[in-house]
Amino acid sequence: MHLIETRDLSYVYSDHVRALDSINFVAPRNARIAVIGSNGAGKSTLFKHFNGIFRPTSGSVLIRGEPITKENIREVRKFVGLVFQHPDDQIFSPTVEQDVAFGPTNLGLDEEIVHHRVHEALKIVGIEHLAHRVPHHLSGGEKKRVAIAGVIAMEPQVLVLDEPTAGLDPQGVSDLNIFINSLSAKYGMTVIFSTHDVALVPEIADYIYVMHKGKIVAEGTIDHVFMQPEMLKSYRLDVPVIPRLIKNLRDSGIVVSMAYTFEEARQSFLYAFGKRL
Ligand SMILES: Nc1ncnc2c1ncn2[C@@H]1O[C@H](COP(=O)(O)OP(=O)(O)OP(=O)(O)O)[C@@H](O)[C@H]1O
Ligand SMILES: [Mg+2]
Repeated sequence: MHLIETRDLSYVYSDHVRALDSINFVAPRNARIAVIGSNGAGKSTLFKHFNGIFRPTSGSVLIRGEPITKENIREVRKFVGLVFQHPDDQIFSPTVEQDVAFGPTNLGLDEEIVHHRVHEALKIVGIEHLAHRVPHHLSGGEKKRVAIAGVIAMEPQVLVLDEPTAGLDPQGVSDLNIFINSLSAKYGMTVIFSTHDVALVPEIADYIYVMHKGKIVAEGTIDHVFMQPEMLKSYRLDVPVIPRLIKNLRDSGIVVSMAYTFEEARQSFLYAFGKRL
């Protein structure tokens, strides 16, 4: 059974915009899925179906094999944590600490446990020092981290992040990369994220969905998707610089194995040129 599955999911906004068109998406346990697609492709609309914020116009959304109902929506929200694209849609308490505590408090947890979870979450995203600040006075990247902390503090089994790196500085992106990988390794959290930052995709994901105009136009492993540069280009997307460089070297006859992440590239080059370096 998949943790999240959509079957022929379509969604039409009230002004007749068909934002999703027959989407078949699955998130198996422990998966790390990237959803990429240009502006307006439908990524945020899709994500809002994963915890019942939106209801399908047609088709279905199954969470652990069950449709979302009034009766199980609280359970679904506990199970699937969604970090919105725009932190202002998510942050509303007078202090950062209170904001991050909002979700776990609503789960009915003891004050002590809430306090522990809040401080763990703030530590994970690197903003313990902001605990007593007013969220609306924070910078965009700081707010983004508050929103992520608020969802992590709920300890969901599935963490859904809508453009988590938008507005983060390079250190923020690298921190995010590390903590997502550690959450998924340590707690077996399933991670689904959307991004325009293709370089981030192989660092975190093992499977990619490509969306365009409300449809899934391609899907597969990192190898499968990033080996189709023309297809990606036709959807206004790009191949990350590392596989692009390696492909270029291979096309020039240099024997070096394909790599997608910085670490894989380092290994590839060491192996290929180690004796000569
Ligand atoms: N509230 C709304 N009312 C009407 N149309 C909407 C609404 N929100 C989004 N849309 C439309 O639905 C389509 C999908 O939008 P969505 O926000 O899901 O795309 P996205 O892939 O998340 O884009 P981005 O990369 O810019 O975040 C777009 O055509 C958009 O204009
Ligand atoms: Mg979006």
